[in-house]
Amino acid sequence: MFRSETRLPHLLTPDAYFNPQQAVREEPLLRQSWHPVALVEQFAKPGDFVTCEIAGEAVQIRNFDGELRALSNVCAHRHCLISSCSRGNSETMRCQYHGWEYGHDGRTRRIPASSNFRPFNFSGEQIPTFRVEPCGPLVFVSPSPSGPGLSDVLGEFHSRLEGRTSAEWRPFLVQEMEHQANWKVVVENTLEAYHVPYIHPETFKETPPEQKSEHRFSDVGTSFHSTLPFAPESKMDAWFQQREGQFLRWLGRPVTSEYSQYHLFPNLLFSMTDAVTLSHCVLPTGPDTCRSIIFQFGICPERGILKRQVSRVWGRLTAWLTRQIMMEDASLFPKIQKGLRSSSGAGVLGRCEERLHSFQSYISEQTQSMSRAA
Ligand code: FES
Ligand SMILES: [Fe+2]
Repeated sequence: MFRSETRLPHLLTPDAYFNPQQAVREEPLLRQSWHPVALVEQFAKPGDFVTCEIAGEAVQIRNFDGELRALSNVCAHRHCLISSCSRGNSETMRCQYHGWEYGHDGRTRRIPASSNFRPFNFSGEQIPTFRVEPCGPLVFVSPSPSGPGLSDVLGEFHSRLEGRTSAEWRPFLVQEMEHQANWKVVVENTLEAYHVPYIHPETFKETPPEQKSEHRFSDVGTSFHSTLPFAPESKMDAWFQQREGQFLRWLGRPVTSEYSQYHLFPNLLFSMTDAVTLSHCVLPTGPDTCRSIIFQFGICPERGILKRQVSRVWGRLTAWLTRQIMMEDASLFPKIQKGLRSSSGAGVLGRCEERLHSFQSYISEQTQSMSRAA
């Protein structure tokens, strides 16, 4: 059931979705938070690394002799990206331009022809380090040296994710999507199922009815809880649900048919069923552009060749369905962004869209309190 008994105001004005000053006001919120940008299994060997960009910060996450560290990916010499590969393995963290090398603490370890740089300033010539922490199969990074810890940001979801370890949950979808829309457009789209009959007529077909939709609210975010299939008349959703039940029973796993979707402020989205975990992090790349980083995991038992093979087939099928749904949503984002640019109205939210209202309150309150503090 929904919490609100009436419609709600749309708290953010259209220009909050493209105004560069609004993007500057929101940046501290995103920097303070934690972002799932890599997989634990991507750092199996010393020297394994992944690069990414979080809230304007180029980051390299790296296995330094068994220790997971996150550092700036920008060289202290003349600002070149240290590595421009999205992932790889290298013996040392060495800049691609003139070969400066860095240690796990961000200090320079080796400078070619170093006599050119006398007198040395080792403390000045070092790169910033960032907070990094694994949870379940995911690696989270926070580009801010201070702020809430990962377990504070994830709230009750932290222990649920921790239980889905990389040993039993395999990634079947690893994808980045660029959107021509503000990051909040993408987040808000996932917070309501009102659009389902128009945007997902084949995949989901119908919005889950209110009796089957529970919205929960907390200081760290909101969540939606229902049971699958959302609408029994939806052929594809119902088909997937039936097969998932059969697959889980065959593996000897419990079948609850529960679906939970979490939005953890500001930009983290997680969905869970008995057999699937989906992580979706939306990162701004400009005032009116953003990137989705998506990881979807499926159960894949450690033992039993047949069980592993069937699990892989199931994992790939569910990944295909997720990609399909995400592409259906993504086709709308540039159209929403265009509308926001020329809108003269305030907008309005229905009761079923009450989670957007909670998100918009969070953005307004946080950006206002940060402007007051500045
Ligand atoms: S810019 Fe990195 S070594 Fe020169
Ligand atoms: Fe959708």
